[in-house]
Amino acid sequence: MPSLPGVGFRFAGVGAHLPEKVIANDDLSDSMDTTDEWIRERTGIGARHVGGMTSELAIEAGRQALERSGLAPADIQQVILATTSPDFMCPGTAPAVAHGLGLDCGAFDVQAACSGWVYGLVVANGFLLQGMDNLLVIGAESLDRITDYTARDTGILFGNGAGAAVIQRDDSDAGRILGWDLGADGDYVHILYSEHDGVLTMDGKEVFRQAVTAIQRTTTASLEMAGLTVDDIDLVIPHQANVRIVEAAWKRLGFSMDKTAMILEHTGNTSAATIPMALADSLYKERITEGSKVLFLGFGAGMTWSSVIVDYAGSLTGTAAW
Ligand code: UT7
Repeated sequence: MPSLPGVGFRFAGVGAHLPEKVIANDDLSDSMDTTDEWIRERTGIGARHVGGMTSELAIEAGRQALERSGLAPADIQQVILATTSPDFMCPGTAPAVAHGLGLDCGAFDVQAACSGWVYGLVVANGFLLQGMDNLLVIGAESLDRITDYTARDTGILFGNGAGAAVIQRDDSDAGRILGWDLGADGDYVHILYSEHDGVLTMDGKEVFRQAVTAIQRTTTASLEMAGLTVDDIDLVIPHQANVRIVEAAWKRLGFSMDKTAMILEHTGNTSAATIPMALADSLYKERITEGSKVLFLGFGAGMTWSSVIVDYAGSLTGTAAW
C-alpha cells in the first residue's frame, strides 16, 4: 500500500460560491412529473443553483480563498481545478481561472467527476512534497450545461457551484494527511456519462449501488492507512449525490449523520464542487477545530472514488454560500 509521509500542511483559506439563480423543487414540477415531497424524500435535495461558467464560479471561490489566506497572488505556485463541466473541450479551464485571479503559475484540470477535488488534494500534497509552499485547489461546476431539467432522474439532482482551498505547506507538522486512497473502475463508464455536446445519462439504481460499495471500500482503505477507526473521525465531508447513498453507506460503516457535513439540501449534486463547498460551510459553522480528524470522501462517474483523512491544523473562518 502506498503512503504519503513527510509533509505538514494546513488549509490557509477557503471559499465557496453559488450562482444566484435557483431552481427549487416546485419549479421542476412545471417541466416534469414530480413533486417537492418526492424529491426531498428520495434525494434530500430542496433546490439547486444554475447559471455562470465554470471559470467564473471558480474564480469567485478562488478569490475568497486567496483573500482569506492573506497571501498575495505571487505566492500561489499551482492551480488545480477539479471539474467535470469545463468551459471548453480544449483547453482546460484552470488557465482561465489562474488568469482571472491574477496568478502566474502552472494551472491544470483534474477530471475525476465527483471524486475530483479529493484527487486534487492528494495531487497538491504531492507538490508540497516536491517543495512547493502554496497551491490553490478548486472544485467548480456548471452542470446545468450538461443536465436535462426535464429528465426525472438527472434533472432533479444536478446544480452549479464552486469551492476552493489554499493548501499551504506547514513545517510545524501540526496538520497533515494521515491516510488516503484513490480508485477507479472503468467497467462502469456506462452507468453515468455525457457524450460531447450531450447531457448526463444515468442508470440511477446502479450508480446508487456502486456508490455505496465505493464509499465502503475507499473509507476502509484510508482508515487502515491512517491506523484509525470510524470512532476516531470527528467529521466526514462526503460527496453528496443523494442523502440516501450516504445513509446506506453509513449504516454499513457505522458513521453517524451527526458527524457528517451535509449541504445537499441547498445545492443539489454539484459534483467536484460539493466537498470544498461543504468544507467552507463546516469551517463557517465551526465544526472543525485544531486537531479534528476530517475524512473527505469522493465517489462518482467513472466510477471513481477518493478519500483523504486530514489531521486539521489552523483556525480558519469558512463561508456560508447560501
Ligand atoms: O454523483 C452521482 C450522481 N448520481 C446519483 O447519485 C444517482 C443515484 N440514484 C438516485 O439518486 C436514484 O436512483 C434516483 C433519485 C435518480 C431515482 O430514485 P429511485 O428510487 O431509484 O426511483 P425509481 O426510478 O426506482 O422510481 C421509483 C418510483 C417510480 O414510480 P412507481 O413505478 O413506483 O409508481 C417512478 O415513476 O418513483 C417514480 N419517479 C419519480 N416520481 C417523482 C421516478 N423519478 C421521479 C421523479 N419524481 N423525479
